[in-house]
Amino acid sequence: MLTLVISASSLLLVFCGFYFAKTSKEMPKNWYELKTEIRYQYIGIVGLIHDFMYRSRDRVALYKQPGRVAVITGGNRGIGLRVAEKLLACDITVILGVRDPKSAEAAVTSVVDLASSGGKLICEALDIGDLTSVKEFADKVKAQFNKIDLLINNAGIMFAPFKLTADGYESHFATNYLGHFLLTHLLMPELKAAGKEGQNSRIVNISSCAHLIGRINYKDINGLKLYYPGTAYSQSKLAQVLFTRHLQAILDAESAHVQVNAVHPGIVDTDLFEHSATTAVPFVKKLVFKTPEQGSRTVVFAAIDAKVEGRGGSYLSNGGLGQIHRDAKNPEKCEQLFKFSCELLKIKDFGSGKI
Ligand SMILES: NC(=O)c1ccc[n+]([C@@H]2O[C@H](COP(=O)([O-])OP(=O)(O)OC[C@H]3O[C@@H](n4cnc5c(N)ncnc54)[C@H](OP(=O)(O)O)[C@@H]3O)[C@@H](O)[C@H]2O)c1
Repeated sequence: MLTLVISASSLLLVFCGFYFAKTSKEMPKNWYELKTEIRYQYIGIVGLIHDFMYRSRDRVALYKQPGRVAVITGGNRGIGLRVAEKLLACDITVILGVRDPKSAEAAVTSVVDLASSGGKLICEALDIGDLTSVKEFADKVKAQFNKIDLLINNAGIMFAPFKLTADGYESHFATNYLGHFLLTHLLMPELKAAGKEGQNSRIVNISSCAHLIGRINYKDINGLKLYYPGTAYSQSKLAQVLFTRHLQAILDAESAHVQVNAVHPGIVDTDLFEHSATTAVPFVKKLVFKTPEQGSRTVVFAAIDAKVEGRGGSYLSNGGLGQIHRDAKNPEKCEQLFKFSCELLKIKDFGSGKI
């Protein structure tokens, strides 16, 4: 029996070594990184089971909403592209903030017949990981629209090798979280102007089930001392959930007609996994992951469904409530990150749209 267990374990180890080595994934180098890896495998499998169990609940009904305006970061591929497709089908005008506006326009027009939509498509340059670019993008949006109904904070990276942005922030923290925090602040006056009684304007922060294993490392937010891509990703995704919770508390206190939710889109077969070991087994992704269209459903549900009206501050997954990190249930922890982010960005009055 013992021989059998040892042989099976050795075979598994050889398989795992082969599996990781074939990809651009950073291999765990110590116990801490291996533990992170094991936790990722665990939440990934739980996520896949959840997606399968709740697949019949994961639906969104599209309806016409001419005259409304949505801003989506990313949106040239993956989940964001399918979100744009659905919103355009609702006759909503869609502004994509993308790194390459020309190719983004080509990507959207390859899946959407714009002539059949009552909404317009506008593509503007945005590098969400660059704070100057975020300010320039917000200025361009504000110059064209004084009301914004939907802000979908979608753009993201996962498991990228260590890199500091031009502003000196670790790339996951800057791209997935801080850039979106700033964009939300800058567009808040237009979001407030669009919301009304019974029809809140809505912010959707696309987070991830990976937030569940996240920790905000205030002493070393950029991971300079101990960087592991999985840790950087889960920190940024937890930051989005804590931000969602505190921002909703602020909006409630102001009685603003704006609501904000975080969403886990499911485990979705997109380019996000480029630095993941799953690139070695693409057939597995095709078989068990959601398609980008399926991944867009809960995002659009959070953005337009009547059942979500007045239910800000939630974390949604597969068309219902998902499990959240214990820190996200603690208002003080949510406020701590919020204040920390305002200090980093020198924001004195969040939501004023001014720096
Ligand atoms: N796929 C999943 O299983 C999964 C699970 C949980 C959460 N999510 C979240 O869902 C969101 C969308 O991911 P996805 O799966 O659709 O990934 P994807 O196919 O890789 O798309 C990522 C999008 O983000 C954009 N982006 C990345 N860095 C950017 C930057 N600095 N400035 C502007 N845009 C940038 C990309 O634009 P470029 O083409 O210019 O690179 C692309 O449009 C992410 O926030 C991700 O964390 C995904």
